[in-house]
Amino acid sequence: MHIPEDIFLPLYANETSSWQRLNYQIQSASQVLFLCETNVRVHALHIKAALFKNAKLIEIPSSGEGFKSFQNLEKILGILHQENLDRHSLLIVMGGGAFSDLCGLAASLFHRGIAWIVIPSSLLSMVDAAIGGKTAINLGEVKNLLGTFHEPANLIFYPDCLRTLPQIEFNSGFGEMLKTSLLISNKEFQLVESMNPNQGYSDSGELLKLIDSCMRFKEKIVKADPQETLNLRSMLNLGHTIGHALESEFLYQVPHGICVAYGLWLESSLACKLHNTSPLLPARIARIVRKMNYKLPHVPDGHLVLNRCLGDKKNRNQSIGFVFLREVGELWDGVHTVSRYSLAELKNPVKETFAECFA
Ligand SMILES: NC(=O)c1ccc[n+]([C@@H]2O[C@H](COP(=O)([O-])OP(=O)(O)OC[C@H]3O[C@@H](n4cnc5c(N)ncnc54)[C@H](O)[C@@H]3O)[C@@H](O)[C@H]2O)c1
Repeated sequence: MHIPEDIFLPLYANETSSWQRLNYQIQSASQVLFLCETNVRVHALHIKAALFKNAKLIEIPSSGEGFKSFQNLEKILGILHQENLDRHSLLIVMGGGAFSDLCGLAASLFHRGIAWIVIPSSLLSMVDAAIGGKTAINLGEVKNLLGTFHEPANLIFYPDCLRTLPQIEFNSGFGEMLKTSLLISNKEFQLVESMNPNQGYSDSGELLKLIDSCMRFKEKIVKADPQETLNLRSMLNLGHTIGHALESEFLYQVPHGICVAYGLWLESSLACKLHNTSPLLPARIARIVRKMNYKLPHVPDGHLVLNRCLGDKKNRNQSIGFVFLREVGELWDGVHTVSRYSLAELKNPVKETFAECFA
């Protein structure tokens, strides 16, 4: 196999053996089918020419989050059937997180599971959605209610495809990258601080290094807790308790990663109030969130957001869980990453936090 210069296999230790492994996966498949969403067609054609010459490429109209429906799952399963894929076939999936969540689910159901390879095309899917093997569709209004764990056989990283990613989607991925950098170390966090998200993609080595570190970090965590049974994966929910509540508050009109960025800021301020952690961290996060320059539809009310937090599926017995940091790269309570609070405990600190952040 000729090794392309602009396509990478980041998650496997040794470069040469990674390409050999991919080659084996392709050669040993009875058939290779490549699905891409329309918005990334040009990139999929490039990758097909470089790696999957004999595969059939089928384009599926892009529709973001709305794609994750039962009807579309049935449609994709119908395509796999029409194309006569058997149990030994290989499915290649290129698109954003919504596309790979649904196609990964289809791969896990078809013939009780066929092998698939993911090629994430958005920043958010590179640093988050494509890693860890979670697949999902939404059931009505409820996000990700139906899904499976079905680890892709491989992940192909083609950073140049970010050139066509809309700016708002880039910023959303930047929010998730901010989260991961806070979990990794000050070095990665400083890199995020030094960047201007509104410049979108640049093939600067720094952005690529950061994406690579975020991918590897998530891979390490999910490898240690593949089915989310050890409470390790929960650290990846940093900023997400308030982030999810904000998403619902703004009726899912504000991209996920932007709500997460606000969640990181608000939750780190809340940690100062509840645990006297240093106020420097929320101030540093605030500077990054301001640089993203996103105008929220309205100023959120802390009390309403707190009530929405209670509805989060991760909360139990009327308590609200947060992942807090003591400082960058260090969780507040070590491996027991989720601290739980009653509504009464949180009322005043949340009110003060929202008043300060949205003054
Ligand atoms: N499985 C997981 O572990 C996991 C983790 C995080 C998020 N997710 C899921 O990921 C989804 C969000 O993913 P997302 O942020 O990629 O959004 P998305 O998949 O909705 O994509 C956003 C838009 O960007 C377009 N797009 C993607 N790549 C492009 C490119 N290179 N050029 C031009 N346009 C491009 C898409 O067509 C779409 O219109 C959510 O459904 C979320 O639930 C899953």
